[in-house]
Parts: sequence; structure tokens; C-alpha cells
Amino acid sequence: MSNPEALTQTSPAAGPDTAASDTGVQDAMPDAVKKLFIKTYGCQMNVYDSERMAEAMGAKGYVLTDRADDADMVLLNTCHIREKASEKLYSDLGRLKPLKRDKPDLKIGVAGCVAQAEGAEIRRRMPLVDIVVGPQAYHRLPAMVEAGGAQVDTDFPVEDKFEHLPQRKGYRGPTAFLTVQEGCDKFCAFCVVPYTRGAEVSRPAARLMREARELVGRGVREITLLGQNVNGYHGEADGADWTLGRLIRELAAIDGLDRIRYTTSHPNDMDDDLIAAHGDVPQLMPYLHLPVQSGSDRILKAMNRKHTRDQYFRLIDRIREARPDILMTSDFIVGFPGETDQDFGDTMDLVRRVGYGAAFSFKYSSRPGTPAAEKPPVEADIADSRLQELQALIITQQRAAQDSMVGREISVLYEKAGRMEGQMVGKSDHLMAVHIDDAQGRIGDLVRARVTAASSNSLAAKRIS
Ligand code: SAH
Ligand code: SF4
Ligand code: F3S
Repeated sequence: MSNPEALTQTSPAAGPDTAASDTGVQDAMPDAVKKLFIKTYGCQMNVYDSERMAEAMGAKGYVLTDRADDADMVLLNTCHIREKASEKLYSDLGRLKPLKRDKPDLKIGVAGCVAQAEGAEIRRRMPLVDIVVGPQAYHRLPAMVEAGGAQVDTDFPVEDKFEHLPQRKGYRGPTAFLTVQEGCDKFCAFCVVPYTRGAEVSRPAARLMREARELVGRGVREITLLGQNVNGYHGEADGADWTLGRLIRELAAIDGLDRIRYTTSHPNDMDDDLIAAHGDVPQLMPYLHLPVQSGSDRILKAMNRKHTRDQYFRLIDRIREARPDILMTSDFIVGFPGETDQDFGDTMDLVRRVGYGAAFSFKYSSRPGTPAAEKPPVEADIADSRLQELQALIITQQRAAQDSMVGREISVLYEKAGRMEGQMVGKSDHLMAVHIDDAQGRIGDLVRARVTAASSNSLAAKRIS
């Protein structure tokens, strides 16, 4: 037998790995006959896509299972961002071989960014794969499954896939993702996203308002707006152009929507109105992920990030002026081709000056087809030791941010029951995990609490309302 457990393990790439059965998609249909197992790699946009694929397959009678060895179909929703993330697909497919041998009718699908980047090549390397479907074509997944046989679809269809997906009637849970913008035109020298997700497209504002209302109608109290460049959002609404700031203000007027977040933002797209919204929209949470990647002007230029470190500092000052208690987070790449000790020192200095609540840091991974892949890499052990040094600094800052919460009053939205009897777990305004002893508490309660203790990745608090 295969080891299906291995397929449910998580390993963060650009964000959390999630089985779609852990997400908000309802997994019980009256006369369902088939079971679908989804594994999600990569960023939150993939988590959202997995939910939508589960809903689309749900309309065809598939229910979610959290066990690959119990499934009629296994769908791997993949990430191409770094080599390791990409290769994970092939090790997971290897693990599925015995399962497919025992159960020849098992359908195996590959979706997401590796599907887009490698297309039919995936089937050549791994013939057990039946279906390869790209991130812009997955509304056609049910039809591909129905048609049977081997299928590859990595088109970027002109039609809007979201219009071909079922409504979100089965969604449950107090928090939800909502993709508002896809693709990227920025072409950072290291990044595959503009190739795997295509050009920047913003979804029409009226449809987003409708989807948000649908979600709030299902009991959602917190929505995180998603996009590869979410703050580059420009959506059409009745002939007018809505920016992300405008969209947030309109969403804030929806009764029952208590919290709004957005990710991931590019520093060059933080416009005045969006910054102002952090000061005057109470539903907009005091948390901002604003990746800078490097603190060296030379490397920022080589990365094609199109801003300097001073511009980034000035931007952070303006954001903190609008919302003094905002918690900043970022992404960093170390060992970008040509990075010297001095460049790396500039990154360490930037981190010290900004003071982050948390940050992801990655060792540069050379990606096929990107401009940086042409350049000679930094020696691996130098990059490794820089990564360790940076991560140690970030952990210290994260710990300080957590500790600074002790004694403060916060709001917490309960997302699940804790491991201890009578305990609830939720997120604070600053997106920190919080544990509260609250035997009366229910998932979806939004409570006031006082923080009593902190560890490096969670808080303990006492409910005060
Ligand atoms: N749109 C976002 C990033 C999306 S990718 C932005 O502009 O910030 C998520 C993160 O993966 C990036 O912020 C970057 O830190 C990292 N990343 C992307 N390509 C990479 C590569 N080739 N090697 C290492 N890390 C990479
Ligand atoms: Fe990639 Fe840069 Fe676009 Fe972010 S802004 S998705 S890092 S190309
Ligand atoms: Fe990965 Fe694609 Fe997201 S490459 S980070 S899953 S956009």
C-alpha cells in the first residue's frame, strides 16, 4: 500500500499547505457518490482556487475526503515559485503510484502553477496523471473529468472562469478568502508568477461585492482579499474605476462583515487612498504584508523591483502615521545573483530599522525562463549562512512583537476549538493566533480579550466580553 498520510502532511512554500477538506467548503452532499482529495501547495490564491474547484466538482456529486487512499480522484494544486515547491509535486506523484496500481480507476489531476508551467510535460514524466489543468482553466475541470481519458488544458481563456463556477452557497466558516485580482505585470527578475498566472486582471467590482455578500450571508465575518498584486486592483463598476481602497470602503458597508484584510501588496501600488483607509476604516485590520525582498538598492534594481530602500522607508512612515499600531510583515530573498556581504548587510539593516511582526525569508531559487536565471548564483553555503542570520533576526523581532501584546486588549475571532477542553482558538486583529479558555465560546464569535501570555507564535488571553 502507499502511504497516504504523507500526502496530507504540510510544508509551507509561499504560505500554508492545506487540504481543501480543511477549508470552508461544505463536504456533505445528499446523494454524493464520489470522493475527492485535494492537496494545496503554495500561496493563499491556490487555497481559494482549491475551494472553488471543490465547489465545481461538488456540483457533479463529488464530496471532499481528507484521505488520498479513500478517494476516487486526487487533485494536486501545485506551486512553481521555488524549485523545492515544484519538485514536491513529483515526489507526491511517486507516492501515489501504488495507490493507482491498486485502484486503476483512480483519477489523478494536477492543477495550479506547475500545471501551467509544465503542461503536457507532467504526463510525459508521470504517465499516471490523467488531467493537467492550469489556474485560468479550472472551471472546465468537471467537463474534463466527465470526458474521461487524458486531458491537458493550460489555456488562458478569454471568458472569465469565475462566471462559470458555482455560487458559494455551501461555504461555511467565519473567515474566507476572496480573489479580487490575478496575475502580475511586474516581472521581478526572479519570479515565475507573471508566466504561470499571466497578465494582471482585476475582477469586476460588482461581482466581488456579490460574492462578498454571499459569503457574509453564510456567516463569514472576516474576508481576506487576495491577489498577486492585490493593491494594484483596478476594477470596473458602473463605468467607474474602483481601486482597492474604494473596494475596501464599499465592503466595509456590508452589515455583518467585521474584518477586512488583503494580501499580497507591492510597495509601488500603495496609493494615498489605501493608506488613508488604514486610518479611517475600522474594519480594515492593522496588519500589512508588504514584501521588500532586499534592503540593498543595487539588488532591488537588479531584481527589477522599481523602488529604493529610502522610498520603502518613507512609505512605511506614511502607513504608520495613518495607523500607528499596524503590524508590518515582509518577504525576503537572500543570495540573489550578485548579492555581496555589503548588500546583505543592507538587508539586515533594513529589517532592524523597520521592525517586523513576522517575515518569510527564502534562499534564492533559480527558476527556468526568468531573467535572473541567466546570472551566476551566489555560493550555496554563503546563501545558507545569510539565510540563518536573517531568520534569527526575524525570529527575535517576531518574539518582541508577540511579547509586546501582553496586557493589551484585543479582539479575537474564534475559528476553531482548541486542543484543551473548553478552549477556543482564533486570530487577533494583528493576525496572531490566540488561545482562550471559554467553555461558552462558539466558532464565529468575535470577542474582546486581554492578553495574559505570549510565546513566539501564539498568545494566551482572557475573555472580557
Ligand atoms: N507578489 C508578491 C510575491 C509572490 S511570491 C510580491 O511581489 O511580493 C511569494 C514570495 O516568494 C516572494 O515575495 C518572494 O520572496 C519569494 N520568491 C519568489 N520567487 C522566488 C525565487 N525564485 N526564489 C526564492 N524566493 C522566491
Ligand atoms: Fe512575482 Fe514580483 Fe509579481 Fe510579486 S510583483 S508576483 S514577486 S513578479
Ligand atoms: Fe506558487 Fe503560483 Fe502562488 S507559483 S506562490 S501557487 S501564484
